[in-house]
Amino acid sequence: MSMETVRPEWLPADADAERPSIARMYDFFLGGTRHMEVDREVARAAVAAAPGIKLLIWQNRKFLKRVARYAVELGIDQYLDLGSGIPARGNLHSAVQAVNPQARVVYLDIDPVAVARGEELLAGNEYAVALRGDITAPETILAEPKVRGLLDFDRPVALLLLNVLHFLPFDSVEPAVARLRDALAPGSLLAISHGTADLGGDDPTGITNVYAGAFGHMAMRTYDQVAALFGDFDLVTPGIVDLPDWRGEPSGIGSQIGPVNCYAGAAIKR
Ligand SMILES: C[S@@+](CC[C@H](N)C(=O)[O-])C[C@H]1O[C@@H](n2cnc3c(N)ncnc32)[C@H](O)[C@@H]1O
Repeated sequence: MSMETVRPEWLPADADAERPSIARMYDFFLGGTRHMEVDREVARAAVAAAPGIKLLIWQNRKFLKRVARYAVELGIDQYLDLGSGIPARGNLHSAVQAVNPQARVVYLDIDPVAVARGEELLAGNEYAVALRGDITAPETILAEPKVRGLLDFDRPVALLLLNVLHFLPFDSVEPAVARLRDALAPGSLLAISHGTADLGGDDPTGITNVYAGAFGHMAMRTYDQVAALFGDFDLVTPGIVDLPDWRGEPSGIGSQIGPVNCYAGAAIKR
């Protein structure tokens, strides 16, 4: 039996071992252990098309930490991380619960491996859960009893949509994000990172073709299209910028490494 036909013991019964998974590819990029050859093949094609992808991914994880810190400083103690991925290093709940052990965190992902690994990691943590769900079905997410059980939507929530919306069918994104924005109370924070062709790093055509070929669709957004996802929320300084530049390190790492072709921003509901 070849390695490819062996189902790893960590692969849940409802996970597809024959097709690549965005979540497992991401885990591979982050040096995790929940990926298979079918994922690594597409990941290698992605790196060949856009050598800067690993930098983008690591910068995105740093953005997650900076957003978490910012939300904590705002006094937010409830977090909804959609398309959260397979937990690897630097998880959201570790960051926010280190400050407030009772901070609530809901992770949600469409991928069964992300949910299974999340459940494993969160066993015994009564303030954090990992759930399966689909961002393009926001009504189902908002009605989910485990979401409602943990998060109080009458109080501010930090809603994170990081490095995920460009993987969804283009036309499904705006209505889904608008519905999620509507559900949030004033004082809530919406954080988004989203691939773009605006910034002039690696040519985005190649990477778009690799993901679209493997998963059916991938779509970059322009500045205005990303800005539209924040609706009438107030963007916080520095606005929508290339990932490393969003409240980046004092060393000005963003200007040193060049564009990573991913917009990042956060905005507060009035
Ligand atoms: C590139 S990873 C990003 C993980 C994490 N948000 C981060 O920024 O580090 C994208 C994740 O979105 C998930 N995803 C893709 N489509 C989704 C959908 N329709 N609903 C929920 N999650 C989805 C994938 O399974 C994957 O885990």
